[in-house]
Formats: sequence, C-alpha cells, structure tokens
Amino acid sequence: MSSTASPRPLTTSRSGALTGRVRVPGDKSISHRSLMFGALATGETRITGLLEAEDVLNTAKAVTALGAPAEKTGDTWVVRGRGVGSLTQPAGPLDFGNSGTAVRLMMGIIAGHDMTVTLTGDASLCRRPQGRVLKPLGQMGLVTLEAGRETLPVTIRGTSRLMPVVYETPVPSAQVKSAILLAGLHALGATTVVEREATRDHTERMLRHFGATVETGRRDGKTAITVKGHAELSGRPVTVPGDPSSAAFLIAAALVVPGSEVTVTGVLVNETRTGFYTTLREMGADLAFENAREEGGEPIADIRVRFSKLKGVRVPPERAPSMIDEYPVLAAVAAFADGETRMEGLAELKVKESDRLSATAAGLAANGVGARVDGDTLIVTGGKVPGGGTVVTHMDHRIAMAFLTLGLASDRPVTVDDTSFIATSFPEFRGLMEGLGARYVDGAAA
Ligand code: S3P
Repeated sequence: MSSTASPRPLTTSRSGALTGRVRVPGDKSISHRSLMFGALATGETRITGLLEAEDVLNTAKAVTALGAPAEKTGDTWVVRGRGVGSLTQPAGPLDFGNSGTAVRLMMGIIAGHDMTVTLTGDASLCRRPQGRVLKPLGQMGLVTLEAGRETLPVTIRGTSRLMPVVYETPVPSAQVKSAILLAGLHALGATTVVEREATRDHTERMLRHFGATVETGRRDGKTAITVKGHAELSGRPVTVPGDPSSAAFLIAAALVVPGSEVTVTGVLVNETRTGFYTTLREMGADLAFENAREEGGEPIADIRVRFSKLKGVRVPPERAPSMIDEYPVLAAVAAFADGETRMEGLAELKVKESDRLSATAAGLAANGVGARVDGDTLIVTGGKVPGGGTVVTHMDHRIAMAFLTLGLASDRPVTVDDTSFIATSFPEFRGLMEGLGARYVDGAAA
C-alpha cells in the first residue's frame, strides 16, 4: 500500500500542446457506494465502470470481510449482498487506507448491526476527525468503546435496535449525511438529515435505485432528506460514470498549456459536483458540455476544453460543496489567470487527506506564485508562474496531481515529492496525461 511504500518523486516541465479524446475512470463516490449498497441489498449487484483505485479496492475488501463478497468477473464487479442489517462480524480490523468516505459511510452501516468492529487507516486517515460522524451515530445507539475517541483506529459497537434521529449537520459534508442515512436504513422509523448547504446527492439517488424510500424536501430554507427505516434493498445493476474530480486535472492542464484541445468523455455532471466547471467558465474558459445524456440515473456529458486566456474571479463560499475536491487544481489554474482569484469558505479543506488550504498555498509559494490564506479564504495572484520548486504532498493525491498540472506550463520544472498516493484515486493519471502529450521525469529536478 502507498502508506508504507517509499516516496515516489516526479518532475514535470513545460509541455507542448495537449490534444486528444479520453475517458477517465469511474467516479470514486459512486464506486464506494455501489459496493456498500450492493452489500446491503439482497441478491446480486453487478457494477460496470467501477474505479479500480486503492481506496475503492479497500472498500471491496471491507464488504467481503463483512460477509458480502465483491469480486471481478470479466469487466464486471459482482457483489453478493446479504440484505439490510444482515452483514456478519469480520474476523479482524477493517483497514480503509486513505479513504475518509469509505470509513465514514461504513460507520453508518456498522451502526445498524449487532457487531463490534475496529476501523483503521493510513497515517493521513488516522489524523482526520471522525467525531462528526460518531456523534450523530452515537445519538442513534452506536457505542464508541473508548468513550470520546474521535480519530482512528476506533472500535465501535453497533445495534440492531438503532433509534431514528433528526439531525442538522454542523458542517457541509456528504460523508456525514450519508453515514446517518445509511444508519437510518436500519433504524426503527424515519431518519432525517437537515443540511444548510446541499452536498453531493449520490447516496440519495442510489438508495432510491436500490428500492429504499428516500425523500428530499425543504425545511426552514434548508434541505431535509428523510430515509425510511427497516428498509429492504434489492441488488441492482450500476453503471459508474467518469469522475469529474479526476477529469478536472486533464481539463485544467488543457486550459493552461497553449494550443491544447482535449475532450473528456462520459463525465458525471450532476450539479452537486460541477462547481469547478462553473468557475472555469466565469474565468473565461472555452469549455463546453457536449452530448449530454443519462447513465445509471446520473447526468453525464463529454467535456471539451481549449487553451484559454483566463482572468481571476471570486469563488463564493456557497459553491464550495459542489467543488470541494477541486480547489487545489483550481488554485493551480488561477496561477495562470490575470489578476486575483479569491476562493472563500474553505474551512472543510483543512480536514481532507491533508490540510489542503495550507498545502496548496505552500506549493504555490514554493514555485514563486503569490498565494496567501486569510482565515478560510485562499487568495492567488496569477499571471506569473516561475516554478522551480518542490511541493510537499502530505500523503494527498490531489495535491500531487494539482502541482503536476502547474508544472506543465510554469517557466521552470516543478517537482512533487511523492506521487505514490495518486494510486488511491486515479492510477491511470500519468498514462492518460502522457497520452495527451505531457511528459514527466521520475525523481527530483536535476
Ligand atoms: C465525498 C464527499 C466529500 C469529498 C470526498 C468524497 C463523498 O467529502 O471531499 O472526496 O463521496 O461523499 P465531505 O462530504 O466530507 O466534504
């Protein structure tokens, strides 16, 4: 696993035009959910387009350890589900590697089972806050064995007599929302999650697809999602669309490398995920969603982009949930835009795979780009990108890919200290980028 492998530095330098038409691997959020919901359904769930990255493969191992085997046959992943509340005690601890989504959603599932499970992950995941999920699940009946513990490794005891709750999430987080809804599937009545700011809705969509009753409405100007307890899910086919958060790196690279024109096909364009693309258009990007269609209950499109002269913009805080994973790469794009880009409302960036707010600002500064953090706002002064620096990735795949993008158009090469974590979400990144014309050199700059 990446967490124990030795660091893999990589250097990138000014690239010729990037051109081509490519498909990115499956969406990570939808991939995790398809395996977990398949495990909670009766019968078989057949998944095509599953993202085969470390994070998702750890989820496949976890559902298998819980008695719902997930295996690949030909091009299809098949999960043999056990039904809601019918997973079985795993033989040992469950290790989720680098993935916050996987461990938090799984806490919601385990909450509804009479079992005691130890959950762990790599050094990055073990630093991240779990109280945001353990607290509401505790109100429903989940017990944390070491009372008050809010980081992994943690041992939790679920119950088949979970109580429903109405819970307003204090942070905009699809992971928190999803954990509570998944616990709610097992509870003795209806469970409601209230969100001040709407977050990605893949859990709601996919639970309906599997036959659960999930209603989304408004309550005091907020979004309220209610799931009916003692649910029955049945195995369903799932087609996973291309990941817009992975496509973002290819699109960003084409925007900043002169002469480029790239099309990424079959990308998920659910509007809870497209804030990055809205922002790029406001910056002046020549970018279009073509051939819009539906696949597996989600809207998808081919995204076509050409190199563009960009200007700095203000990115409002209410847009953050719809582009939360794209700020590092947006900051790299902003470095090439004329003027200042102000990205506001980024508190949640501090608790991702790394503190992305400071890691992004530090990576830009190391490469001579004007960047500063003011509270929860990141301000990038674009126009001049000297490069020549080394970026510390802090076990964070998206920091690595964002700065490999910056280096494609900076004056001097950019080195990223460790690219091994890219395998957690996008193992094909380097190959796809090289296919478009990018060149990388293993190791640090000479
Ligand atoms: C995800 C939700 C987001 C995102 C993560 C995937 C999900 O986290 O950053 O990469 O699949 O639900 P939060 O919901 O905690 O913001």
